[in-house]
Order: sequence, then C-alpha cells, then structure tokens
Amino acid sequence: MKFLTLTIALLGYVSANFLSSYPHFFIKSSADDDANKSLKEIVKENGFAIEQHTVTTADGYILTLFRVPGFLNETIQDPIKKPVVLLQHGLEADADCWVINSPDVTHTFVLARQGFDVWMGNNRGNKYSLAHKTLDPNDPVDKPKFWQFSFEQMGIYDLPAEIDYILEVTGQEKLSYVGHSEGTTQMFIGASLNQEYFKSKVNVFLALAPITRIGHVRTTLLKLLADNVDAVQHLIIDDFGMYDMFGPDWLRDQVTAAFCDTKLGSLICDAFLEMIGDMDVSVDNLSRVKTYLTHVPSGSGYRDFVHYAQIINTDRFQRYDFGADINLDKYNSTIPPLYPIDQIKDFPIALFGGTLDELGSVTDVDWTNQQLGNNVVFYGQYELGHMSFLIAKDMTFFTVDAVNVIKKYSTNSFVQQGFLQE
Ligand SMILES: *[C@@H]1O[C@H](CO)[C@@H](O)[C@H](O)[C@H]1NC(C)=O
Ligand SMILES: *[C@@H]1O[C@H](CO)[C@@H](O)[C@H](O)[C@H]1NC(C)=O
Ligand SMILES: *[C@@H]1O[C@H](CO)[C@@H](O)[C@H](O)[C@H]1NC(C)=O
Ligand SMILES: *[C@@H]1O[C@H](CO)[C@@H](O)[C@H](O)[C@H]1NC(C)=O
Repeated sequence: MKFLTLTIALLGYVSANFLSSYPHFFIKSSADDDANKSLKEIVKENGFAIEQHTVTTADGYILTLFRVPGFLNETIQDPIKKPVVLLQHGLEADADCWVINSPDVTHTFVLARQGFDVWMGNNRGNKYSLAHKTLDPNDPVDKPKFWQFSFEQMGIYDLPAEIDYILEVTGQEKLSYVGHSEGTTQMFIGASLNQEYFKSKVNVFLALAPITRIGHVRTTLLKLLADNVDAVQHLIIDDFGMYDMFGPDWLRDQVTAAFCDTKLGSLICDAFLEMIGDMDVSVDNLSRVKTYLTHVPSGSGYRDFVHYAQIINTDRFQRYDFGADINLDKYNSTIPPLYPIDQIKDFPIALFGGTLDELGSVTDVDWTNQQLGNNVVFYGQYELGHMSFLIAKDMTFFTVDAVNVIKKYSTNSFVQQGFLQE
C-alpha cells in the first residue's frame, strides 16, 4: 500500500487496545529528537522567540495565535517594524505544522531568518482554539452549538479576527498570507465573499495545496464521507457524539476504538490513516514521523468534513448545504450558492500544487487557476503530496519559490516601499 510507511508509524503510536486489532503492525523506531515536544519548546530550542496571543471572533470563538517575532537574542519591542506573514494550517492541523519539519527548512524558521515577523493562526475547533465567550464545548447542551461551523466561518470570522489583531499589534497596514489546504479554502471563501476587506489587509495570498472545487479527489476518506454523508453524520453525531472528529487524543481514545469497531467506522478509521499519509511518502522526511504525530491530528469540527463531502458530491465550490428549506431561508435559493472566486479582482495569489496530491488534484488546481485568471501571479506544480507541503524532504518550493513571492509582494508600513533587507 502506498501510504504504508506512515501508516505503520502512526499505528505504532496508538493505544495497545486499538493496536491489538492490527497485530501485524510494529513500532517504527527513528532518531527523532523533537517527538513529544511542544511548539514552544521546538521554537525556543532553535533559538527563536515565541509569543502567544488570544483573539475573539465576532461570533465569540476564542482563538490562539502564536508569533515568532525574531531570534531569542534580539531585542523585541513593538512595533518591531518587520514585514508580517500569517501562516494558516489545514484540516486536522494547527500552528504546530509550521515548525515540525527539519529546522533548516521548516516554514516558520525560514521566514524568521529572512527577517519576517511570523504569526501562526489556529482555527476554531483545533486543540488551541477550543473556547468560546458563552458556549462550553464540554457542556452537553452547548456542544452541538459550539461545533456548528465549517471552513466558511473560518474565512468570514476567524481570518478577519486574526488579521485585525495582528495588524494592530504590529502597526502594519497589510500582511502576507500563507495557507495550507483548508487554510487556502477559508481564504478563497473570505476573499470571494468579503473581497474589499481582504484586499485592503493582505498583500499576497500563497496557497499551498489549494482546495476549492475537489471533484477529482482521490482520498478515500473524503470520497467515503461523500458517498455516505447522511449515514456518517448519523453515526458520528447520534451514535458517538463525535462532534470533534479526530481530536488530539483520538488515536488513543476508547470511543475511537468502539467507533472503529463499527462497520462504517472501521472504513473511516482506515481511510483517516490514509488521509494523514501521502500517496507517495518517499518525498516526505519520514525520519521525523514521531514529531509529526505528536502534533497531528489536532481536531476539526465534523461539519468541515461534511462540507468538503458536499463539495465533492456536487463538484461545486459551494456554501454549506443545509437542505432545501433552510437553504431557501439562508441563501434565498434551495441550492447553496457558489463561492464567487471568479469575481475576485486585483488580488495577488500564488498557487503551489502537488502532482502527488490526493486531495488537491492537478485537475482541480488547474481549474482554480483558470477561475482566478489574472490574480494568479505564480503557479507551480511540484512532485509533492498533500502533507508534503509541510513535511517534504525537498522544501525548495517554499525556501526558494514561496519566499521569493512573499518578498516581491510583502509590504512594510515603516519603510517607503517593498521589503528591506536588514
Ligand atoms: C514520547 O511519548 C511516548 C508516549 O508517552 C513515549 O512512549 C515515547 O518514548 C516518547 N518519545 C520520546 C522520544 O521521548
Ligand atoms: C542570535 O541567534 C542566532 C541564532 O541562534 C544567531 O544566528 C545570531 O548570530 C545571533 N545574533 C547575535 C547578535 O548574537
Ligand atoms: C430571491 O430570489 C428571487 C428569485 O431568484 C429573486 O427574484 C429575489 O429578488 C430574491 N430576493 C432577495 C431578497 O434577494
Ligand atoms: C530529515 O530530518 C532529519 C531530522 O531532523 C534531518 O537530519 C534530515 O536532514 C532531514 N532530511 C532532509 C532530506 O531534509
């Protein structure tokens, strides 16, 4: 099986209980110094400063932001007058994903060494953003309300909350945005529904493994969910109350073991392991698997999965489908409207696709490229899988190409124009 290596390593990490149903798996050993270390530990041990900030969205979700403003030995005082980059993670991930690759090539450190003020967001529902002003996600009554969101809310609420806060702290007028996977979906949604806002605050949008319309998805998990969306919702919500799909302890959890024991559940569990893996893991740096697994999965609301499943089924990049009656109420249309990405104008966007990407296939990324037309200032296809954009051996797509795009478009309100080298 193509994703076997990572899957084996992953299964090596789970509870003996769950593992007993897979007696043929073993624990892969590797020299992996960063296993079990927190984001802050990894950042500090590499000589960088780390700050933690909190923002509240307009609809009450309390999100954590991490910031690497520079080296530990630097005097850091706001405004530090460096150009700002915001990194936004994908489905089932969190800010950790930007520091887990080898320190010489991992995104945050590369940008910090180049003189950027690096911020890392956390979407609602991941392990760092599990709080709300009025709703308690552990309360049985609040729980269903807390989890009533998908990536549309992340584009409409989470991104503006993060961006406004960052610009206020840094005194900058604009920042550069880098999204991975769902982190691109939410920006495509934000930029199409609230174009003027994002154009006035974001100087360039880099999309790593871009996800909009994904009719050509090859990931078993999403296809499985798409084919069984009602049954899956029923199983997950009514039978297991798993509003938080694949939370941080998911692999070690007893509920998981029971869930994975059901007929449909077992298919989902196997497919989930495949999703975390890549089609061809030979391009990924597998010597750090234990480090990756310390940080993935981080939890995502079940509706993120349902919404992606709806997009696959309809082959339309469309708003959440609540059913005809509620749709009519919300959208004035029984069918959910499309996100009008073809209406975006004068917004510099860079697309980084992977020829081995099972989620964002070449066909679908080409489609996104066509829809965006003149906005696309850079389009590269690399021999990378979906997760490779985080954990590849060859990270030159980022260390060279992405950094060049950011430097070209980044702004610094404290200097006359463009990016100033120290
Ligand atoms: C990480 O934690 C796991 C589970 O507690 C433990 O088995 C493993 O030895 C730890 N790895 C390292 C490198 O500390
Ligand atoms: C600060 O630390 C970084 C990384 O540890 C190092 O490369 C740099 O030379 C140091 N600068 C000073 C002024 O000590
Ligand atoms: C709702 O949709 C109908 C039919 O497309 C249209 O005529 C009407 O103006 C819309 N109403 C609103 C409030 O947008
Ligand atoms: C993979 O990660 C290990 C451990 O951090 C590192 O020593 C090695 O250089 C990395 N390999 C590549 C090709 O980057």
